[in-house]
Amino acid sequence: MAYEPEVAAAKFAEADPRDVLAHAVDRFERIALSFSGAEDVALVDMVADLGDKVQIFCLDTGRLHPETYRFLEKVRDHYGLDIELMFPDPEAVQQLVREKGLFSFYRDGHQECCAIRKIEPLRRKLANVDAWITGQRRDQSPTRAEVPVVQQDRAFSTPGHPLVKFNPLANWTSAQVWDYIREYEVPYNELHERGFKSIGCEPCTRPVAPHEHERAGRWWWEAATQKECGLHITNIREDDIKPARASA
Ligand code: ADX
Ligand code: SF4
Repeated sequence: MAYEPEVAAAKFAEADPRDVLAHAVDRFERIALSFSGAEDVALVDMVADLGDKVQIFCLDTGRLHPETYRFLEKVRDHYGLDIELMFPDPEAVQQLVREKGLFSFYRDGHQECCAIRKIEPLRRKLANVDAWITGQRRDQSPTRAEVPVVQQDRAFSTPGHPLVKFNPLANWTSAQVWDYIREYEVPYNELHERGFKSIGCEPCTRPVAPHEHERAGRWWWEAATQKECGLHITNIREDDIKPARASA
C-alpha cells in the first residue's frame, strides 16, 4: 500500500524522534539524512544506532566555515560513518561568480546563490531516494511553526517520484536538542561556543546575542519570513513554490 504521510504525521505527532526514525528506516529502503554540520548532529547520533541503511549527506556549498568542515570530519571519525558531500555544478558557480562576484547575495538576496549551491545538488541527491530526513524544528522560525513530523515533500516530489520528508525533531526545542547532545556526549560544532546558534554558510551566518532569536544570524539583511533557502521552501507559501522550482 502506498505510504500516507498525513496518516503517519498524525500517528507520530508527539512521538520521540527515535521512534520516528525507526519507523522511517523500517518503511523506506532508499532514505537519506541531510546533515548541515550544526546541532542536527543529534539525528546522526540517533541514526547511528539504526544500522547503515540511512545515507548521510551534507550540501557542501564551498562557503561553509572551516570549523564546519573540521566538524564534519570529526563526526565521520566519531561514528565511523560515511558522510557524502554534495557539490554544486562547477559551471553554474563559475558563471554566477563571473557575472556577479562572490557576494551577490548581499545585493540581490540569497535565493540565486542558494539555488546553485544548495538546491540543485539537493535535487540530484533526492532523485535517488524515496524519503529524506531533516533537522527542522518548529521553534526555529516563523516559517517553520507548523512543520509536521512527516510530510509529502511538495517541492522535490515529481509526478513519477513521490518523496516523503521526515522532520523527527519538529516538536523538540533547541533546549531538548542540547540536553540530548550533552547527555549522550555527542560531538558538536565549535562555532556553537562562540555565539553561533543556527549555522549555514560563512558569509550568510553571524553569531547572535543571547536575547536574539537563533535565526537572527542567518541572512540577517533579509526579512524573517523569507529566511528559507529553498531546501524547505514548502514552509513559506504554496504560491512561492513554483517560482522557486523554476529558479533552481
Ligand atoms: S536552511 O534551509 O535555513 O539552511 P537550517 O540550517 O535551518 O536550514 O537547517 C534545517 C535542516 O536543513 C537541517 O537540519 C538539515 O537537515 C538541512 N540542511 C540545512 N543546510 C544543509 C546542508 N548544508 N547540508 C545538508 N542539509 C542541510
Ligand atoms: Fe550562497 Fe549564502 Fe545561500 Fe550559502 S547561504 S548558498 S553562500 S546565498
